[in-house]
Amino acid sequence: MTTVEFRTPEALAEAERWTAHNYHPLPVVVAEAEGAWVTDVDGVRYLDFLAGYSALNFGHRHPGLIAAAHAQLDRVTLTSRAFVHDQFGAFCRGLAALCGKDMVLPMNTGAEAVETAIKVARKWGYRVKGVAAEQAEIIVAADNFHGRTTTIVSFSTDPDARADFGPYTPGFVVVPYGDLAAVRDAITPNTVAVLMEPIQGEAGVLVPPAGFLAGLRELCTETDVLMIADEIQSGLGRTGKTFAIDHDGVVPDMYVLGKALGGGIVPVSAVAADRAVLGVLRPGEHGSTFGGNPLACAVGTEVVKLLETGEFQERSARLGARLHAGLEALIGQGVIAVRGRGLWAGVDIDPALMTGRQACERLAERRVLAKDTHGSTIRLAPPLVVTEEDLDHALAQLAAVLRG
Ligand SMILES: Cc1ncc(COP(=O)(O)O)c(C=O)c1O
Repeated sequence: MTTVEFRTPEALAEAERWTAHNYHPLPVVVAEAEGAWVTDVDGVRYLDFLAGYSALNFGHRHPGLIAAAHAQLDRVTLTSRAFVHDQFGAFCRGLAALCGKDMVLPMNTGAEAVETAIKVARKWGYRVKGVAAEQAEIIVAADNFHGRTTTIVSFSTDPDARADFGPYTPGFVVVPYGDLAAVRDAITPNTVAVLMEPIQGEAGVLVPPAGFLAGLRELCTETDVLMIADEIQSGLGRTGKTFAIDHDGVVPDMYVLGKALGGGIVPVSAVAADRAVLGVLRPGEHGSTFGGNPLACAVGTEVVKLLETGEFQERSARLGARLHAGLEALIGQGVIAVRGRGLWAGVDIDPALMTGRQACERLAERRVLAKDTHGSTIRLAPPLVVTEEDLDHALAQLAAVLRG
């Protein structure tokens, strides 16, 4: 008789022993992946319904993206911005065109792009709007998630993200999400920007009330305040349009992008804005060694090309309707509420049944990977290459988990 040795326990123990405990991962150790599926070290296949928090919108190892990365690996991978490389201009031109903006500034992580937007907004406030030195204010929303740097956690309202990391960066005013009157009341002559997620991801995929984003656009224009849309998780096809804010027919002054921009291969983020805004930066004021590196730009250019076809946005809208219909059908059968757009859903599970964490553990036992947010909410965000059969399979597994 042969004994089968499972590699998962040892791999989990090693990770647990040698890393800081800043995450609480599900007990799955991924070894390979393709499309919407991953395979663990023991050969078990799972359907990925998180997609790296939208970093994998085009699926794991999209062939076109992998080919672009391979080709670039054989040419040049890093120059720093001290020199220009031959992938840089084309990527920036393509991304600016996708955003309908004059220019972009590439960075690496989402948090870096948010920091970039904050610095640009402040400098624009001082140099263009005429705010007195050190007085700039930026309005943000309660329950926001914009990243983990010390400045960004300074305006988080999540105690886990914020406590013990002070002293905090001043200059931020928090208002309730989706409350236009509260934004209006918070605006002062020192307000330089309103920074918000068009759909709040970490908060549980919260879609703001109808008319909020359009009203915010009007208010920002009236009061000479920059409207900054953090589309790091919501953008690049996730909601059925290129940007989540497109659903409201709104164009912000600055887009903040990340995650899927790197095609699930490299960290690529960026801000996009017109010259009147991004043009305030001068040499030496901001930068990043890896920002806009050749590998990142080669992959990013392919990402932009994929989005230019509209195919992924269309898929997300079409399959998203199927996902949401399936989830709505579970209301009253263990699900309390469903929110979201396209292939993105926040699902509130009856807390009397189980926590979000327990739901995700039970889904993982049924070979579907998802992630909880707060309390009894789980979020579903499969790669946009997911098939109808995959969707139906995941919905059936969720229904089975809820039946207990
Ligand atoms: C809306 C939003 N902004 C910013 C970030 C931070 O991105 P990163 O983790 O790449 O720094 C995230 C990450 O989840 C996000 O969802």
